[in-house]
Amino acid sequence: MQKPNLQQAKKRSNKKVPVINDFVIDDKLLALGLHKKYFIKTYGCQMNEHDSEKIAAMLEKMQFQVASNMEEADVIILNSCSIRENAHNKVFGMIGQLKQLKEKKEDLILVLCGCMPQEEIVVNKILTKYEWLDIVFGTHNIINFPNLLAKCIDERKPQIEVFSKEGEIYESLPVKREYPHKAWVNIMFGCDKFCAYCIVPYTRGKQRSRTRQYILKEIKKLIAGGCWEVTLLGQNVNAYGKDLSENYYFADLLNDIGKLDIARVRFMTNHPWDLNDDIIKAMQQNDNIMPHIHLPLQSGSDRILQKMNRNYTKDEYIKLYFKLKEAIPNICISTDIIVGFPGEEAKDFSETLAVVNKCQFDYAFTFIFSKREGTPAAAMADKTLREEKEARLQKLNKYISAYTLNSNMQFKNTTVRVLVDGFSAKNKAVLTGYSENMKRVNFYGDEQLIGQIVPVKITEVKTWSLFGEIVSTKKG
Ligand code: 5AD
Ligand code: SF4
Repeated sequence: MQKPNLQQAKKRSNKKVPVINDFVIDDKLLALGLHKKYFIKTYGCQMNEHDSEKIAAMLEKMQFQVASNMEEADVIILNSCSIRENAHNKVFGMIGQLKQLKEKKEDLILVLCGCMPQEEIVVNKILTKYEWLDIVFGTHNIINFPNLLAKCIDERKPQIEVFSKEGEIYESLPVKREYPHKAWVNIMFGCDKFCAYCIVPYTRGKQRSRTRQYILKEIKKLIAGGCWEVTLLGQNVNAYGKDLSENYYFADLLNDIGKLDIARVRFMTNHPWDLNDDIIKAMQQNDNIMPHIHLPLQSGSDRILQKMNRNYTKDEYIKLYFKLKEAIPNICISTDIIVGFPGEEAKDFSETLAVVNKCQFDYAFTFIFSKREGTPAAAMADKTLREEKEARLQKLNKYISAYTLNSNMQFKNTTVRVLVDGFSAKNKAVLTGYSENMKRVNFYGDEQLIGQIVPVKITEVKTWSLFGEIVSTKKG
């Protein structure tokens, strides 16, 4: 058993990051999944979604087949998220529910992976309260999953293996992409920003950028396979390359990817700290870089921003925001905001509202501060009552949804280009996809449009989506 250690995970050094490029599944394991099925449930961010695509591909290489529901599966994998307490609660709730399934089906293998296993408190809780889990592994040892699975089946014993190292880079992992027409591409892993509230630098390790050769090779392969859109993934893509000694940064990468024959390039997420003029210029100069950026504000109070270790003031944020709007006039800007950070007073919250009123974000994700054990903010005095924090969130959300609707109104009666993902989960006659500005668009259309970029005239505007009519079915 190898347990996690957050103190260890916090360490950073300038040691060169090893790149592991020889991932192969042992021949002996290639039939492990014959006549067996797997089900993956993913919680949290796109990074986790993409990790699940890698885990699925490993399982399929071992001949496991995807199950359509948990009841049908022989292996159930929960790829977990640590970002807030409610993410934890959801996963623990699911582990609790799975106990019944396990009792009915003795051979069922239950796996917990992702960010939660990186925390000592989680692993200790599992050992004492959730002993029916069979395999627990963390974000740093995905490549060992096939071996852990084989060992678990072979020894009929639980396997817990969580590394807390600074990290390394795995190239050549297989990926089972959810869509042929759009794909996630990791450009970096980990984070060194250490925002005071955030657990990610501990669960995902030190910032490690992939080298351009591997990234460009992956994207060229995707293009050859018919992919129209790539989303470059990193905890803070603007800092790409700062940990490499190649003098090649995010703007350079954007310019190189922008030259490729791909219709859409997106990226996320962006800390204002490293967003420089070269990046803005690259967005301006490459038509295939989509006019959308997710730029977390977190708070509009300088006092709180400082306590959060965000390294910018509200004025600097506002300046950057309007610089982007001026440079790319059709850009949509979304954000993240936390209310109720320790020590946030009514006055600080009003300052956040003032920034929201000034920027009028195209949309935003809003959260109540959640104490993450081991982070600096967990040790800060927090006297504000929960009810007060909830009232602040509600007030903020009222402003945010009004501005979101307002932003959506600008598209009424205009034609937007939509990359069609598939049928809407709510209505099987309605197709759904995203516009260039990252607005969800629904419209009636045929199945053959899935995976294509089509012009849609917006006829109806709601807060969380746009509705329209297809203008022509010509391929984009
Ligand atoms: N509490 C509340 N929100 C958090 N986030 C990150 N950590 C916490 C926390 N401890 C939010 C931030 C970040 C988004 C992904 O999640 O706003 O940008
Ligand atoms: Fe967390 Fe801050 Fe890193 Fe984003 S930049 S992952 S909020 S520490």
